[in-house]
Amino acid sequence: MTEAELYDEYKGVYVPNHLHPPESLKYYEDFTFRPDDVLIVTYPKSGTTWLQEIIPLIFSAGDLTPVRTVPNWDRVPWLEEHRAVLLNLEQRPSPRAFATHFHHYMMNESYFKVKPKVIYVMRNPKDVFTSSFHYYAMASYMVNPGTADEFMEKFLSGKIMFGSWFDHVKGWLNAKDQEHIFYVAYEELIQDLKGSVSRIGQFLGKSLSPEVIEKIAENCLFKNMRQNKMSNYSLVPEEFMDQKKSEFLRKGVVGDWKNLFTEAQTERFDAVYKDKMKDVKFKFAWD
Ligand code: A3P
Repeated sequence: MTEAELYDEYKGVYVPNHLHPPESLKYYEDFTFRPDDVLIVTYPKSGTTWLQEIIPLIFSAGDLTPVRTVPNWDRVPWLEEHRAVLLNLEQRPSPRAFATHFHHYMMNESYFKVKPKVIYVMRNPKDVFTSSFHYYAMASYMVNPGTADEFMEKFLSGKIMFGSWFDHVKGWLNAKDQEHIFYVAYEELIQDLKGSVSRIGQFLGKSLSPEVIEKIAENCLFKNMRQNKMSNYSLVPEEFMDQKKSEFLRKGVVGDWKNLFTEAQTERFDAVYKDKMKDVKFKFAWD
């Protein structure tokens, strides 16, 4: 199926219409934040599910009940997704946690007024590309990626869901009022999960004991999250996600792009990256 059939265009980017019908996009426009809300912001395939595990465990001080009993999409719902409308989020006690794939310029009026706490997770775009390439092939509501060359042109020009990775990262890095935003890279989580959990906890005003940090980090290891049916998307029917083609929690490593990219593709990707990121001063974990 084609982009025209599977995606809608919303504020300049494609959104899969199966997940984001107009009423859920409208719901987000009207949504009222609270100052102690925690919003996980990611370009897709950058570590959303990981943070949907980490944040509830920081809130529960390591009690595993929330991540063992509630699927990740209800535990930390996407505000732009169809489920948000059904979940009675207004009645949830504080602190609430949400996720979004929106660009900074797409945030609603309440966001800019209330300034909820944001955790912005970014990942080496070559690994984002690789993860997306497999995901687009297994999810029936996404346009089939075609060859790696074909998908690369779409990725580099932003003609995929939630638009351009480059614009997403640049938009969030240029956000004003950065005191309510915590920037973290997927690569940092891989390298030092315990330290990252501790730093995110501090940002959220939670001081966690070493034992609690240890417990959270252990539960959030890839091999353990992969076993958790509330986090590994095994509850999603095969007609939507065919995990026989590629698992949602697929490899969970840094640098898997090297198994996919040809030399020519690496050159092409690097050239576009260099051009699009030339004015960015931020020191990325993958550079
Ligand atoms: P791969 O496809 O490279 O394995 P998102 O949740 O934003 O859709 O991102 C999904 C990516 O994050 C997948 O990458 C997935 O395996 C990875 N991921 C999820 N949980 C992880 C964990 N605990 N450790 C490492 N990677 C994880």
